Amino acid sequence: MEKSITYFEKPGKENTDNLIEIVKERLVDSDIKYVAIASVSGSTALKLGDALDSIGIGDKINIINVTHHAGFKEKNKLEINGSIIEKLEDKGIVTFAGSHALSGVGRGISNKFGGVTPVEIIAETLRMFSQGIKVCGEITIMLADAGLIPVDEEILAIGGRANGSDSAAIITPANMTNVFDMRIHEILAMPRD
Ligand SMILES: Cc1cc2nc3c(=O)[nH]c(=O)nc-3n(C[C@H](O)[C@H](O)[C@H](O)COP(=O)(O)O)c2cc1C
Repeated sequence: MEKSITYFEKPGKENTDNLIEIVKERLVDSDIKYVAIASVSGSTALKLGDALDSIGIGDKINIINVTHHAGFKEKNKLEINGSIIEKLEDKGIVTFAGSHALSGVGRGISNKFGGVTPVEIIAETLRMFSQGIKVCGEITIMLADAGLIPVDEEILAIGGRANGSDSAAIITPANMTNVFDMRIHEILAMPRD
């Protein structure tokens, strides 16, 4: 089997439009039914929804958006506006916020006592590919644990570095209790730097 990977020269949001094109191409004529995207503000998730609608496949793909957990930046606050959540809902895109699977309570422990927890080592290992590939893995665990994506079929996941998207992968998700059952089958794109 031959597949191609797109390598962006630099990480970051500048790659978002190209990444969405790559995702569109991969989804056309595929059996993939779920796309998990990390979009803190919801703006990249909206772009993705429009892009899939533009080629007539928006209805057959379930897009699930993941935003940061409440309190990531500011106490009691989510970083996505209610109006954007509604816009996404109008397109059938669900937004999920929950504990980050690859830091979680472990981050609270290392923040207070120093050191590192095993789960943070998993995160850092995936970051050896890119921030975005780590995010792809992380959000599939979160969404599988929320019952929003299945664990027994391949889905497409999208992540980026801080803003926008620069990485995408085809993953069979796993729940947190069986995290090493996760399979990263294909990397569609990632930054090379
Ligand atoms: C649960 C979660 C974890 C994330 N972790 C990281 C991370 O470790 N490193 C990073 O550079 N970006 C991280 N991000 C940012 C995303 O990869 C992505 O670039 C961002 O959500 C895009 O948001 P936007 O549509 O508002 O631009 C994370 C986002 C979420 C929702």
